Amino acid sequence: MAKITFIDSNKIEITVEADSGSVMELAVQNGISGIDGDCGGVCSCATCHVHVAAEDMDKVGAANEIEQDMLELDDNVNEFSRLCCQIQISEQLDGVTLTVAAE
Ligand code: FES
Repeated sequence: MAKITFIDSNKIEITVEADSGSVMELAVQNGISGIDGDCGGVCSCATCHVHVAAEDMDKVGAANEIEQDMLELDDNVNEFSRLCCQIQISEQLDGVTLTVAAE
């Protein structure tokens, strides 16, 4: 089980738990404002863009090449950017904080 904290587009902090699936699915199920997941998680919309807390980057890992290409088309991208449909939930993610990237 992993506890994941989101800071949504209204700057509200919400902590939820899960043990499988993608972080985007978890966010949508929990109504995290600012995560839409329009493409259903196939890395082609960037409506699941988050900024990983700097100290959690080791746990979450970097974007792969396809994800990076998609991110290049989005706004507000930095070195902590990830498309959270591409992050699989595992115990390794326990305690991470993800901030919804502002549009
Ligand atoms: S849900 Fe579309 S890129 Fe993540």
